[in-house]
Amino acid sequence: MRDVIIACDFSSKEQTLAFLDRFTGRKPFVKIGMELFYACGPDIVREIKARGHKIFLDLKLHDIPNTVRKAMSVLSHLDVDMTNVHAAGTVDMMRAALEGLTRPDGTRPLLIAVTQLTSTSEERMQRELLIGATINDTIAKYAENAKTAGLDGVVCSPLEAELVKNHCGAEFMTVTPGIRFADAAADDQVRITTPARAREIGSDFIVVGRPVTAAEDPVAAYERCCREFIGE
Ligand code: C5P
Repeated sequence: MRDVIIACDFSSKEQTLAFLDRFTGRKPFVKIGMELFYACGPDIVREIKARGHKIFLDLKLHDIPNTVRKAMSVLSHLDVDMTNVHAAGTVDMMRAALEGLTRPDGTRPLLIAVTQLTSTSEERMQRELLIGATINDTIAKYAENAKTAGLDGVVCSPLEAELVKNHCGAEFMTVTPGIRFADAAADDQVRITTPARAREIGSDFIVVGRPVTAAEDPVAAYERCCREFIGE
C-alpha cells in the first residue's frame, strides 16, 4: 500500500501536463490541490486520470454535513483515489462525507481527514481558536474522531504519524507531507523528515512537492523517493 504522492502545485493545465509527460515509466500518484482544481475545474482530474495516474484530490472540505454530503456525491463521479475533509467539521460531518462519497455499488475513494494544519502553532490554536488542549492531544482526538466516523486515516506531519498510529492503530492510514532529502533545503517547511525516516515512522503515503517538482531531474528525484520510501 505504501506509495509516494507528488504534489502537483502548478497553476495551469499546460504546466501540469508538461511536467507529467516526463514520467514515461512508472506513473506517479498525483495530488491535485485547490489551486489547480479551481483554475482548471474537474476536467484536469479526468485528463490526469485518463493518463493512468492515481489521484489524491486535496480540497479539504469543511461545511455543514448536508452540504459536504452533496459535494462529496458530486466528487464521487470523478473517480479519484483519495480525497479529504477537515476533522474540525465534527464526526457528523465526516460521516456525511463518507456517505456522499460512497457510490451506489458500494465502492468509494479513500477518505482522510486533516487534523490541525501544520501551519497552526500550539500557541495560536490556544489563543485564537480557544482550544485549551496541547496540539498533540488535539491531533490525537481529531484522528480518533475521524476513525469513529469510519474514515481511512489522516493527513499529518511525519512527526505526528507515530502518535496517530498509537491512538488509532497501525491500520489507520497516515498521509504525510513535509518530506525532504537529507541533503536538501527545507524551504518553508519546519517539521520535516526524509522519505527513509517516514517509512521507519510508519507513514503509509508521503506527499512530496518541491523536492520533485523543482528538481533538475524530477523523474530521478521521484525514483529516489520511491527507493527510499517503498524500497523499489
Ligand atoms: O513542496 P512541498 O514538498 O513542501 O509540498 C508539500 C505539499 O503538501 C503541498 O501541496 C502542501 O500544500 C501540502 N501540505 C503540507 N502540510 C500540510 C498539508 C498539506 O505541506 N499539513
